[in-house]
This record gives sequence, structure tokens and C-alpha cells, in this order.
Amino acid sequence: MTAGPPPVRMPLAPALLDIQAPVRERLARVPEEMWRIVRADAPIVESVNAHLTGMKGKMFRPTVLLLASQIAGTPDDRGIRLAAITELVHLASVVHDDSVDHSPLRRGMPTINALFSHQVAVIAGDYLYSRALAELVAVGDFELLRVMLGASNDMTLGELRQLASYDALQFTEADYWLLVQAKTASLLGAAAEAGALCGAPRFRQQLARFGHLLGMAFQVADDLLDYTETESVTGKPSGNDLKEHKVTLPLIASLPRMSRAQRARVEALFAAPIPTDAEITDVVAIVHECGGIDFARRKGEEFAADAESALVDVPASEARQSLIDALGYVMDRRS
Ligand code: IPE
Ligand code: IPE
Ligand code: MG
Ligand code: MG
Repeated sequence: MTAGPPPVRMPLAPALLDIQAPVRERLARVPEEMWRIVRADAPIVESVNAHLTGMKGKMFRPTVLLLASQIAGTPDDRGIRLAAITELVHLASVVHDDSVDHSPLRRGMPTINALFSHQVAVIAGDYLYSRALAELVAVGDFELLRVMLGASNDMTLGELRQLASYDALQFTEADYWLLVQAKTASLLGAAAEAGALCGAPRFRQQLARFGHLLGMAFQVADDLLDYTETESVTGKPSGNDLKEHKVTLPLIASLPRMSRAQRARVEALFAAPIPTDAEITDVVAIVHECGGIDFARRKGEEFAADAESALVDVPASEARQSLIDALGYVMDRRS
């Protein structure tokens, strides 16, 4: 008997730029569209916008939306506008989120709450949201409105659910999944679904499901990065979730496997109003030792595999391949 083929080697994780290649030109036009939508004649809005313009994010949601829109051939001309609206909804949510999380750093730059104030962050987030939604009304498509407003509403409920995860060592894995669905998967699901509505309506359901599962993996990976990466790599403070007493999957999964002594160290961190760096490093090590990182990684990969299955009926194309590659990117990204 001859030996079988050598085992297939896992390729290197796809780079974001490669994933964006099929939509590069349309994606490049999204920032200009965003700043057109939020332009205003008010000095404080102008200063906030100027700061936000300089904070470059990954543009992941517009990437997903534009890829979805060209999965069945030529997309219609609403994609760039929709991509800008989606990124503005995302931006509004992070401006609010950083204020709620008391986070000083985003995309390697001071957050709006750090640079201005919490009051400004609340109002600026509302402004971004309302401008985005007004633009969506101007697009005049009831289905798009339904999809994006549904996600915005879920995200708000998600951030509310999040409040229950603070100081809550009893927060369960089921609570965590409900939270992630609402705060993150909703918008990625909407981005993919809105993309379908702008060019591939017959794949609407498949793309909505794909985006939702991609979003689940995305947040699990984000919660892992808080444990595993440094601030200089992610552009956000690392260990901020523990510092803020926020309970996420790595901790939830490791708690039942902790010794009494380890559990006591975790409880001490949660009792400290402002945990020290040493306490955070110690609990991060406990979570590693008790398998919380491995568990979360496995769960994220399960979501990624399910997301890939959601696209089985979609014919091969460059855009479809990029969406599949986006799953590998999400799980292996470092920021
Ligand atoms: C951050 O999203 C908020 C989460 C849902 C975890 P991104 O990681 O996409 O942030 P930017 O837009 O690239 O900064
Ligand atoms: C995601 O949660 C926030 C939003 C969906 C707006 P996180 O609080 O984990 O996001 P980061 O880590 O601050 O980006
Ligand atoms: Mg946050
Ligand atoms: Mg986070």
C-alpha cells in the first residue's frame, strides 16, 4: 500500500489586507462617506469628529458588508453608503462603550471620555447614532432600516446585559452567550445581511447567519485578547476587563476548575476597588492554568466552523473566499 498524501499544513492566518482585496476600492471610499454623514457646524462636534477621524479602526464591519454585497456578482450602488452607516453605528457603540468601561485608550489613541469627558462621550455617541440612522432613512429601504435598527436596539440591550457581568463571579456561560449575541453578533449579522440586500438578496439568510456566527467568534477573540495581548499590540488597555471587574468567557470557564486558594485570589481582585497590575497578572495566570484561555479559543473556533458551514450553498467566488478567510483572521488576529 502506498502512503497517503502528506497531512495538509494549516496556512498562515489570513491578513486583513488580503481579505479586503476584493472590495479595496469601495472600502477606500467609506471614510469620506462617514465624515460627510456626520459633518456639523458645531465646534464640539467638529473637535470630536476631528479626533475620531484620526483614530483608524480595522473597518471590519464595512469589509464584511461590502464582501457580502458582491458575493453573487455586481452589487448595487448603495453598498458604500450602507458600509459607512454601519461603521458609524459601530463607532457610536465604542464611544459609549469606552465611557461605560472607563477605558482611556482605543486604537492606540485617547478615548473621547479620556480626552474630553464622559458627558461629551454620551452626547457624541448619540450624535453618531442619530446621524447614521437619519442617513439610513434617507436611503429609503424599509428592509435595510429594519435590519440596522434591529441591530442597534440589540446592541443597546447587550450593553445593558453587560452591566450584569460586573462584579458577578456567578455570571454563567449562558448569560455570556446572550450578552455576546446582543452586543457584537447583532451588528456583524446586520452588516452581512445589509450587504446581501445590496447585491445578493437570494443569499440573505445564509449571510445573516454567517455574520452572526462570525460576530460570536469576534467577541470571544476580543475577550481573549484582553487576557493575552499587550496594549501596544491591541491599541486598547490589556487586562481592562479584570480591572473593571468584568466577567468574560476565559474567567467563566476557569472558575469551576480553580483550587480554593486560586478562587480566593480571584475574589480578592474582585473585592479591590482598583485592582493592582500584580493582582491582574496573577489572575490572568490562574485563568491560563485552569484552561480558560484554551476553552474560549475552542469555543471561538467552533463558531468560526459553524459560520463557514452557513455559506455551503453559496457558489465559489473571490468575495466568498474572503469571508471564509475572515474567520481565520478573526480567530488569529492580535488587535
Ligand atoms: C471593538 O471592535 C468592539 C468589539 C465588538 C469587540 P473592533 O475590534 O472591530 O474595533 P476597531 O473598529 O477595529 O477599533
Ligand atoms: C464590545 O465589548 C463593545 C461593543 C460591542 C461596543 P468590549 O467592551 O469588550 O469591547 P472593547 O474591548 O472595549 O473594544
Ligand atoms: Mg470596552
Ligand atoms: Mg474587549
